[in-house]
Amino acid sequence: MNKKIIVFASGGGSNFEALAKAAQSGDIKGQIVLLVAGKPAIGAIDKAAKYNIPVFVEGPGDLLSALKAAGPDLICLAGYLKKVPQNILDICPVMNIHPALLPKFGGKGMHGAHVHRAVLAAGEAESGATIHFIDADYDKGTIIAQAKVPVLPGDTPQTLAARVLEVEHKLYPQAVKIFCEGKL
Ligand code: GRF
Repeated sequence: MNKKIIVFASGGGSNFEALAKAAQSGDIKGQIVLLVAGKPAIGAIDKAAKYNIPVFVEGPGDLLSALKAAGPDLICLAGYLKKVPQNILDICPVMNIHPALLPKFGGKGMHGAHVHRAVLAAGEAESGATIHFIDADYDKGTIIAQAKVPVLPGDTPQTLAARVLEVEHKLYPQAVKIFCEGKL
């Protein structure tokens, strides 16, 4: 049976779109039943319309009830900037994508350009993307998959981010595919 997946996003939603494409093509044995948008007017909401995926925009509405009504098997955080409370973590497994090779460059304040800036400042030879489960201790849950990219001379946070994003779009659907096959 197809697994029910809910994606949470706060930004452009390119990872959300990579998951939506993989689900639509049947590559993932799962269906994205809801997008939770961390704020209004973000790119992810326009992308949801393209794939006919219902959207819940966080605000005064009761998110917990909406999630429970949808009955997900998996929640995927894809560029979601807020901390997920324990009552949501209790519903089903929650995965996250992080744009660096955890356990390095994770934790508080490590999101977006901050991550890539820190990687460059540390003089790392490589960076990459990590998919991991979320548990109460953020960015410290079990690592599911990683993909590496080189750090190149002259890289800026922007060029490094773009190189990492490219591998994110492959890695996240792969991890979700494996989950939906019951192999995780
Ligand atoms: C990605 O780099 C993801 O790893 C990070 O935030 C970015 C989101 O990009 N957590 P998008 O909204 O999926 O395009």
